[in-house]
Amino acid sequence: MTDDPLRNATEIIEKSIEKDVIPSVKSFFDEATFTASHVVYDPTTREAAIIDSVMDYDPASGRTGEASARKILDFIHAESLNVVWQLETHAHADHLSAAPWLQEKLGGKLAIGARIIDVQNVFGKIFNVGTDFARDGSQFDHLFEDGEKFRVGKLEAMALHVPGHTPADMAYVIGNVAFIGDTLFMPDFGTARADFPGGDARQLFQSIRRLLSLPRETRLYLCHDYKAPGRDAFCFVTSVGAERDGNIHVHDGVSEAAFIKMRQERDTHLTMPHLLMPSVQVNMRGGHLPEAEDDGVSYIKIPVNRL
Ligand SMILES: [Fe+2]
Repeated sequence: MTDDPLRNATEIIEKSIEKDVIPSVKSFFDEATFTASHVVYDPTTREAAIIDSVMDYDPASGRTGEASARKILDFIHAESLNVVWQLETHAHADHLSAAPWLQEKLGGKLAIGARIIDVQNVFGKIFNVGTDFARDGSQFDHLFEDGEKFRVGKLEAMALHVPGHTPADMAYVIGNVAFIGDTLFMPDFGTARADFPGGDARQLFQSIRRLLSLPRETRLYLCHDYKAPGRDAFCFVTSVGAERDGNIHVHDGVSEAAFIKMRQERDTHLTMPHLLMPSVQVNMRGGHLPEAEDDGVSYIKIPVNRL
């Protein structure tokens, strides 16, 4: 192991192939929020990690629902898996996390990137939540640093800090595959936006180039797909090679300056995600609803003319 997280992640990928310790992956797609959740497991020990699960939410009625998360729960039971991690790639702004609901039923340590503290500070202020909201990441069981190693059964794994979409985004290399959150989308759709509070197009470019320095054959599992024009099926797995050759925003040869210009221009035309307000308030709390008020009910706030 060296001091260079990317070299170490590459070693993990190469060793996984060499020793034939290969993860199994089952993906779930939530069409309401265009989110892909993934279960990755070691087929020999049956240890598993759940990545970016979705809690349904109807903003008109303010009701949560478990239909999406229940599909994951049923799969874990059917395959007799032992969940050791509930991983979040970042504090999502377009769906609520189901990690606490799944954790209650299945266990596993709830983890996110260490810079979640920055996200909590920014959004704690935006939602004026007061001092009872701890901005120290304590809502999670573990906060990952860049280059930190972990395991899922016999699978070696590493967390990589890939900021830009938000300051806290992480990618997880597990065995010979990588779960890259909101950095890259499918080659025909491009890249994640970088205009949320704390987002940064230059950082996003640098994070993406880091990911694209992994071996070409490395399979990349995405957090979203929106079906590019002309494509009729959702797709959320690609490869480093396919992205380097064909990503419409950031294929090999696109300069940092050109990317930043494109990204910033494009972001000015994007509307805020439909579920931004509830998602951020819940996900900055590790997927827990805001603490119930004296009537026993949780409330979601909407700051008017703030974003
Ligand atoms: Fe996101």
